[in-house]
Amino acid sequence: MPFTIAIDGPAASGKGTIARALAERFGFHHLDTGLLYRATGVKGGDPIQAARTLAEADFGRKDLRTAAAGQAASRVAAIPEVRQALLDFQRGFALREPGAVLDGRDIGTVICPTADVKLFVIASDLVRARRRAAELGADVDAMLMQLRERDARDAGRADAPMIRADDAVLLDTSEMSIEDAIKAAVGAVEARLAG
Ligand code: DC
Repeated sequence: MPFTIAIDGPAASGKGTIARALAERFGFHHLDTGLLYRATGVKGGDPIQAARTLAEADFGRKDLRTAAAGQAASRVAAIPEVRQALLDFQRGFALREPGAVLDGRDIGTVICPTADVKLFVIASDLVRARRRAAELGADVDAMLMQLRERDARDAGRADAPMIRADDAVLLDTSEMSIEDAIKAAVGAVEARLAG
């Protein structure tokens, strides 16, 4: 059986960085599931159709990482048929050998409820806004508002809301360096690998 690592948490919590580092360290595949929703959100037209017909070319767009794409993603992500359309691809990805790391909002709860390791990565609102503002060259206050709006929508929706799974390890990266956050995550995975 492949080894599955599920990483969830709000925007700019550090989950993407941690997911990439774990995939590299353990030689696992990595899927940033937010990209599926971002690609759906920016594609335009009927979002359900967009999700059902996502193709390679949709992931080559240069604007997927923008704040606008994040907001569009969060909106289409509240539509159950959109989530349903993206489900099989994610579950299939999680079965890749020798293992896979998936990061998003509902990986530990809905996509991979039996994952070997689950992490729920958080950081204070201000820390996250500062990180994202630095990344995108944007204003911290504007970023703070956008992140809060997006988190509220992602946590408040009826279908697969962002929530920590009961068995997820909570990792607060507010006061941690990237290196320390990765170390903590590696520790959680190694503990599980050791049985
Ligand atoms: O991780 P991200 O910022 O790229 O995600 C963009 C949006 O996509 C996020 O605000 C909510 C949605 N999303 C989701 O609903 N479920 C996931 N597994 C991943 C992302």
